Amino acid sequence: METIKTFVFDAYGTLFDVFSVTEKCEELFPNNGDAISQTWRKKQLEYSYLRQMMGKYRPFSEVTRDALRYAVAEAGQELKPEDEQQLLDAYRQLEVYEEVPEVLKALKEQNVKLAIFSNGSHDMLDPLVKQSPISDYIDHIISADDVKHYKPTPASYTHVIDSLDMKRDDVLFMSSNGWDISGAANFGFHTAWINRKEQPVEELNLHPSSIYHDLTGLKNWK
Ligand code: LAC
Repeated sequence: METIKTFVFDAYGTLFDVFSVTEKCEELFPNNGDAISQTWRKKQLEYSYLRQMMGKYRPFSEVTRDALRYAVAEAGQELKPEDEQQLLDAYRQLEVYEEVPEVLKALKEQNVKLAIFSNGSHDMLDPLVKQSPISDYIDHIISADDVKHYKPTPASYTHVIDSLDMKRDDVLFMSSNGWDISGAANFGFHTAWINRKEQPVEELNLHPSSIYHDLTGLKNWK
């Protein structure tokens, strides 16, 4: 761990709570908010995997819009253009998890470089970080959209070390998503799985270097 030069964080589900849009979903679609919010996230990820495998890449902002459309249709509801825009705007104002600002502040005080690496395209990621309480702590925002390859492809993680001009060994990568932390381990990063939902390790023989329930355990990582 002493070789670590930069902490790199996944965005959605790790720093930002994607289910902080559930309230807006429930407001627009009473009694369907939770189901729509859950399907929205599931389909967003599914579409990124499918598009990657089919060679049909589209930016995550479009994949997120398309996943929302599917989720509302699956709930048997009609998605008006103004409601779609409201929900996509809400996705640019997601809340950070409670412990995130304090931990990132503590890491910055230890002169640790902090980066975000996300499948999110800059048109959704940059405004999200800018409006958040952590924007002053983030040194780099890196998007898979820069190279048109989604996580967990090795090409996507390669973009991280190219962007930071660092070696694999210099990076500690954190994600709450088991598939993402497996991809980062496969690529050769040191990894810390932020296992917020207390899930089992993915059966991929790509175990994380360390496991935490949330970011708190990283505060005094040295
Ligand atoms: C991210 C989503 C996929 O890359 O978790 O931020």
